[in-house]
Amino acid sequence: MKTRKPLPKKQNNALPLVSSPSIASLKHIALQEQRSKLPIAKGKDALIREFQEHDVTVLLGETGSGKTTQIPQYLLESGIARGGMIAVTQPRKVAATSLAIRVAAEQNVTLGTSVGYSVRFDERFSSETRIKYMTDGMIVRELMSDPLLSKYSVVIVDEAHERSLRTDLLIANLKTIQRQRNGFRDVKGKGKDKADAPNPLKIIIMSATLDAEKFGQFFSGAKILYVQGRQHPVKIYHSSQGQIDYVDAAMRTFYQIHTDYPPGDVLIFLPGQEDIESLERTIEMYAKQLPQDSLSVLICPMYAAQAAGQNSKVFLPAPPKTRKCILATNIAETSITIPGVKYVIDTGKCKEKRYLARNTGGGLDTLLTRDITQSSAMQRAGRAGREGSGHCFRLYTENAFKAMPLSAEPEIMRCSLSSSLLQLKCIGQDLEKLELMDQPAEESMKSSLIVLFLLGALNREKEITAVGRQMASFPLEPVYGRAIIASKDYDCVHEVLDIVSVLSASSKLFVESFEQRDAVSEARKKFRHVCGDHLTILNVVKAYQEIAQSEGKSDRKEWCRRHFLNERALLEASDIRDQLRQTCQRLGIDHSISCGDKEDPIIFSLGHGLAMNIALLQPDGTYKQTIGQSIVKIHPSSALCDKKTPAIIYDELVYTNQIYARGVSRIPKSFIITLGALKQQS
Ligand code: CDP
Ligand code: MG
Repeated sequence: MKTRKPLPKKQNNALPLVSSPSIASLKHIALQEQRSKLPIAKGKDALIREFQEHDVTVLLGETGSGKTTQIPQYLLESGIARGGMIAVTQPRKVAATSLAIRVAAEQNVTLGTSVGYSVRFDERFSSETRIKYMTDGMIVRELMSDPLLSKYSVVIVDEAHERSLRTDLLIANLKTIQRQRNGFRDVKGKGKDKADAPNPLKIIIMSATLDAEKFGQFFSGAKILYVQGRQHPVKIYHSSQGQIDYVDAAMRTFYQIHTDYPPGDVLIFLPGQEDIESLERTIEMYAKQLPQDSLSVLICPMYAAQAAGQNSKVFLPAPPKTRKCILATNIAETSITIPGVKYVIDTGKCKEKRYLARNTGGGLDTLLTRDITQSSAMQRAGRAGREGSGHCFRLYTENAFKAMPLSAEPEIMRCSLSSSLLQLKCIGQDLEKLELMDQPAEESMKSSLIVLFLLGALNREKEITAVGRQMASFPLEPVYGRAIIASKDYDCVHEVLDIVSVLSASSKLFVESFEQRDAVSEARKKFRHVCGDHLTILNVVKAYQEIAQSEGKSDRKEWCRRHFLNERALLEASDIRDQLRQTCQRLGIDHSISCGDKEDPIIFSLGHGLAMNIALLQPDGTYKQTIGQSIVKIHPSSALCDKKTPAIIYDELVYTNQIYARGVSRIPKSFIITLGALKQQS
């Protein structure tokens, strides 16, 4: 029998309201229509059933089918995630923030309420948040305060095919956490009564490539699901010969498309921010010379160092009579789908982090431009066929494609492990004993343990020390955590926080300009400090703070422009500093302690952190590492470039045709001797 719904009570003398839909609600309706047309929407009910039934699912589907944006919403709407939050992890910060913005819009809520994000040094969520997009690094960090991740009822590990170091660590931990939280239930959710597991955890692994076996094996018995994508044919062209200058070749190919091919946006894959900026400049230069009746060009850069929301124009349709030209790193390969792309130009290059371990502890972190893999090349080409047939122009030969490795090596096999090792030690885990999908090389493990021992984070028994725990509390590389802790003893916390904040910002502080090289070096002179780059940074921060106090926003901007400084880096650093100050407060470190004009305390504090990054002057004018024994040169961009000083500390080594030390300061030899003595005591 049907029950009649009671009629709503009529309000006192209220006139019937004739409401016309607002622009906001029209936008919402359009978004809902887009959602319902995604390839994944057809399988919604079946997917929900599978998620209900299984505790671990592996979901595979082509990029753009709707996995990342829709699955969390399905889980929320179906009530599967009733017990807690849904975490969706991403290897990259910029993907996490832009996805949260999109899903908040689809849910018609303000970002930070029921849909939010959390990435290093930036977060938007509240107690209301149900869907949280976060970097894999952030959730691994949360393990330190909540080892069972009890706030989350579902953890979605997205972009799992990338096998980032943090994703691998997360997957390993999720397996044990699930065993503890779900009691004896097997992966199909069968076994002991649910009552035994008051807060069960569901795990969903998502990937854009179809290679699921490894995940399936790791979570034995996991249910593997496929979403049918919508891929149109893409015509692939290889260049007849290899290109040495791929930025120039990309520019020429772009203009060939622009003049000879019908409308449709162009997506160009480049290895990193510098190449993106240089290509942006040349494309813009030639765009001015185009005939009046041709389409105009709108350039949209897209790379990891962008702040949340900074790249929103990339997702909007190109304005009339305009061709969008998106310059992206491999972030646009699978993490982010950009609508409207019909042409792809693939330089065949990407940047790869690699750690050259030495069992003496003096390993070398490198970031090198290298050839991509066949799997990446296919993903890149696929981006041209999302909405219709497309074209992909590869700036490399067909033979070069065939010579590429099939897929990338997991990051855990090629990255520095010290930061992760320390975090795991904090939760009582040993990386050596963790059940991982792939084990890291023994040499790299050993090298990282030595680094942590030399920093005082571990004792000889490989146990975490009180200093190690404090270091891990800072969302920083262990070396900088160590420098902050040392600054407490040298009474210069204020200054060291200023410097470390700038070093941790994702944008570079100093703007380079080849065209205005003389003006740049003249402007830089004002800040240059005889002790080197760290105190030069401090001079910039102090000068900017003075300007910020007395001048308005536009004058500040102009001051930065005149001095070839990137204001975004300074603003970002100021946010980072606020967060680091909070961490200090939690640890009982007074962040206002300042050493005034003294410089030695600052250098000594940094020296404690950079103890592995010390080099001594050799008779031939080069420097030799104290640990590792490599010969290094001071980078031409350094304030100490043409100075000879007996001993230096440095932030990093860059590996080109030779090894350069970057971020260099001079340090008294006597300090190095003291440091050695200190180490022997511990
Ligand atoms: O995860 P998957 O690659 O399967 O797809 P998705 O990221 O969920 O994207 C589904 C759709 O949402 C795509 O068509 C994107 O163009 C769109 N989207 C968007 O317009 N703006 C964003 N910030 C993210 C996604
Ligand atoms: Mg996705």
